[in-house]
Formats: sequence, structure tokens, C-alpha cells
Amino acid sequence: MVNIAVLGNGTVGSGVVEVMSNYVSNISEKAGEKIKVKYILERPDYPEALKKENMVFDFNTILEDDEVEIVVEVIGGLSPAYEFVKKSLQKGKSVVTSNKALVAEYGKELMDIAADKNVNFLIGASVGGGIPVLRPMNVSLTADIIKGIDGILNGTTNFILTQMYENDMSFEEALKLAQNNGYAELNPEADVEGHDTTRKIAILLSLATGKRADYKKISCEGITKITKEHMEKAKALNCDIKLLAFSRVCDDGAYAFVSPVLVSKEHPLNNVRDVFNAVLIHGEITGDVMFYGQGAGKLPTASAVIADIIDCVKNKGRAILKPWADEELKIKDNGDLILKEFIAFDKDAKDIAEKYFKNIEFISGAGENTAFIIESMARKDIDSALSSILSENVKITERLPLI
Ligand code: HSE
Repeated sequence: MVNIAVLGNGTVGSGVVEVMSNYVSNISEKAGEKIKVKYILERPDYPEALKKENMVFDFNTILEDDEVEIVVEVIGGLSPAYEFVKKSLQKGKSVVTSNKALVAEYGKELMDIAADKNVNFLIGASVGGGIPVLRPMNVSLTADIIKGIDGILNGTTNFILTQMYENDMSFEEALKLAQNNGYAELNPEADVEGHDTTRKIAILLSLATGKRADYKKISCEGITKITKEHMEKAKALNCDIKLLAFSRVCDDGAYAFVSPVLVSKEHPLNNVRDVFNAVLIHGEITGDVMFYGQGAGKLPTASAVIADIIDCVKNKGRAILKPWADEELKIKDNGDLILKEFIAFDKDAKDIAEKYFKNIEFISGAGENTAFIIESMARKDIDSALSSILSENVKITERLPLI
């Protein structure tokens, strides 16, 4: 029998307890041992009427109980999650977490402690919710060299953009619907400003390269400025708009950004709708591999957490996740990236576009205003052309990469 403690009884925590109880024989059979939720940790002010028999309100009860072998951290955020996880690992308990903020900030340090103590610190639910992407990257794609990872990694923003595109909603209307459906984080800023996606792509890049990627160095733009007009233009271009995490790995680091992007109908990420996520991995040997599934929500995330609990049970005394190297992954200047870009002006100024850009395709259906696609030009050169264009009394009303 293996005893576990679940820290937090919110959406994911209650999902873990529910699935552990409903699928007890299946889970125990796969783990090779019976697993029991000995404790659920909640805050001392938790409502009396909702308290359960195995609930405790002081973390030390769990820390000091040597029967607890695995701690499941599903509180979210950095404090007190970081302190609880670190103390648990130092005490020789394995930890499973769905907390991307914790992994992005302290993943390397916590992996090092786990390796030192010969216990596990498993993070499979921190990216992609129910999509098993971290385990295949760690196990199945190990022979490959990962050259890039692109993903739709945030369910809330993908839901919002889908509602805006398909149901003609404004950003505010769609955000309210996402919140009512329980998708958005408590503070929606982390979702809609792209910070959640930035943390997730940093974790994926760290796993792909074995070096810690600092999410704070990844350029990030959210979806709050996307309007109905953007959606109309996207439809005219036969594209959708997605919040994309883009990355390309090179010998001396990686390019990475998070931004709204026009995704053409032919691209495999185009059809990823609603709360679904997808991760497209470009392998040097395998070519493209795509993972698709529900990136948020109670049961899909609980399923990923429980898969990690089972791995902890099967790998007692052996840390299976190799800690990231001490050397940090260099995040390179995106100015050298060459991607197709869509640009729109506030007026009809085709002559100005032609003066500054070569190889452009004008878009019909952009009304009175000039809109065009730049086929191939480094970002830094587009930036400098656009700043010169401002002095020609032309405003840039839209600029989006196109994949
Ligand atoms: N708020 C996150 C999302 C939850 O919408 O994807 C899962 O990380």
C-alpha cells in the first residue's frame, strides 16, 4: 500500500481524489500496489460543512508522517506551493505537480533535490493538461533532436478566440463565457496576456534541450488587443487566429515567442478549437509529431497527475526525470527569425508598401486600407521598415505572423 497526500482540493485536487476513488482497481493494478489518499490538505478556514474525514489543515501533519510517500501538489501559484514541495522532497517524499508556475520558476532546483534524494519530482500535468506530451518527450523521442516546438498551450485563450471567430463575440463576451465555464485562471491576466503559455513553452523547451529556459526572457504578447476586425481579416485570408507558442532550437540557443498568429487552413494547428491544446514537435529525425487533447479541466488534468503518481510508485528509489543542466538555455533575439507576416495600414498606401518591401502579396477585401503579406524578410528588417513608414504618415493597424 502506498499512501499519498493531495495538497489542495480545488478543481484539479478534487478531480484527482474523484478519479482515484472511481478507478481504484484500475490504478492499483497499473501501479502494482494499492494507492490510498491518506490526506487532503486544505486551508484552516475551509468551510465546516464541506470538510472530509481525511482532510488536514496543517502541512506538517503530512510532512511528519513517514507513511506518506508521495505528495501531490495541485494548489497552484508559488506560495506556499514552493515551500511545501521543497520540504517534501528534502524529507524524501516524491512529488507530483500540475503547477506550471512552480515548474517554470523553480523546476531545476526541485529536480536537483529530487535527484539528490533519489525520489521523483514529476511534472507531466504542468503542460497540456490531459495531453501526455512530457512523458513521450522524455521517453519516446529521446533518440531525436528536437528542432522546434509550436503549440496552442492555453485552453482559455483558445476557447476565447474560437468563440470570437465562430460566434462573432467580442473579447470581453468570450472571456466572461470562459470564466463561467471554469476554464480561466482565478486571475485571467495569466491566460489572456500569454504568461501561462510562456511558462509552458519554457518548460517544453527545457525538456527538449535539457537546459533551463527562463520564461521571463521569452517575448510575450497576449490576445487582449484582438478585435472582431482582426477576425474578419483572418476569415478573408482563409486563416484562423491562435495564441501560438513558437520556438526553434539552434546550436547556440533557441528562438521563442508567444503571440497571436494567423494560422492558415492547411496548417495542422488550424483545427484546434475551444479548450483543446496541441503541441507540434519538429524532430530532426522523426519529422513532425503532434499531440492533441484537452489542455485544461478537472478530469483531463487529474488523469495526467495520476499517471505521474503511478510512475512514482513504479520507480521508488529512482529519480526518472533527468535534472536540467546548470547552463541556462540562451533565448536568442527574434530579429533574425524569418516568418511570413501580415501587415495592414490605416489607409490606401500601396505605393508606400512597395517602396519598403519586396515580395509582397496585396490582400483584396481589406476595404479602403492597404493590407499585404510579406513572404520572407527578417523580423528586424520588417521592424525598421515599419518605423520608417510611420514617418510617411501611415499607421500600422495590424501586424501578425502567419504560419
Ligand atoms: N488556465 C489554463 C488554461 C489551465 O486555460 O490552459 C491549464 O493550465
